[in-house]
Amino acid sequence: MADPRRIAPELWPPAPELRTERLVLRAWREADRAPFADLNADPAVMEHFPSVLDRAASDAMVDRIVERWADGRPSLWAVEVPGEAAFIGFVGLLEPSFTAPFTPCIEVGWRLAAPFWGRGFAPEAAAAALGHGFDTYGPDEIVSFTVPANISSRRVMEKLGMGHDPADDFDHPNLPVGDPLRRHVLYRLPAAEWRDRGRGSAPSTAAVTDK
Ligand SMILES: CC(C)(COP(=O)(O)OP(=O)(O)OC[C@H]1O[C@@H](n2cnc3c(N)ncnc32)[C@H](O)[C@@H]1OP(=O)(O)O)[C@@H](O)C(=O)NCCC(=O)NCCS
Repeated sequence: MADPRRIAPELWPPAPELRTERLVLRAWREADRAPFADLNADPAVMEHFPSVLDRAASDAMVDRIVERWADGRPSLWAVEVPGEAAFIGFVGLLEPSFTAPFTPCIEVGWRLAAPFWGRGFAPEAAAAALGHGFDTYGPDEIVSFTVPANISSRRVMEKLGMGHDPADDFDHPNLPVGDPLRRHVLYRLPAAEWRDRGRGSAPSTAAVTDK
């Protein structure tokens, strides 16, 4: 397995670059580590996670992201706003490592720095990531999940046209019984729905989050 710590950053494997109307989804750079550590240390960004991350944990996450690209597996892009910000966070695809009724599967996810929230960047980037994911890996569906209280993230799922059936809600096996973050809602996007809608179409804004 590739070890990104042993590979000079300029030789890190290139993630396929995706462009949207306002964004570039690109391979990670060494220079992304500092702003990524900043957003991972922000309690607002990490509100729905067990804890904020320190610099070492943030860097280790970058290493895992790069390693997955090196292994040819779904991974996360660094997101850039050309002309405005070289790095605002990540959007991309992951394979959950835990076992649940819906795994193995591909998950779409996002984490952006708070100053860039509210401009529709996450759904715009995620639509490109979904297109890449369906085209490249050919899954029957791509899922996303979060805690019920993470309305911002659920709104992104809804804007992407992902569907939520409460019967799919689950307890995250990596969190202990009694942990307030254990319960999760699952959203699904079947490949057929993605195809029917026409890939690349603008994300929907019509859905209303169920509570
Ligand atoms: C979830 C997240 C990626 C959304 O990104 P975004 O680019 O702001 O997405 P949108 O602009 O489409 O906004 C989505 C929702 O976020 C909420 N939101 C928007 N601006 C916000 C702000 N400044 N502060 C708090 N919430 C805000 C709104 O509920 C919005 O829904 P609406 O468009 O129906 O009003 C971003 O909030 C984030 O990084 N959160 C922290 C990390 C996280 O929780 N990741 C998901 C883990 S499952």
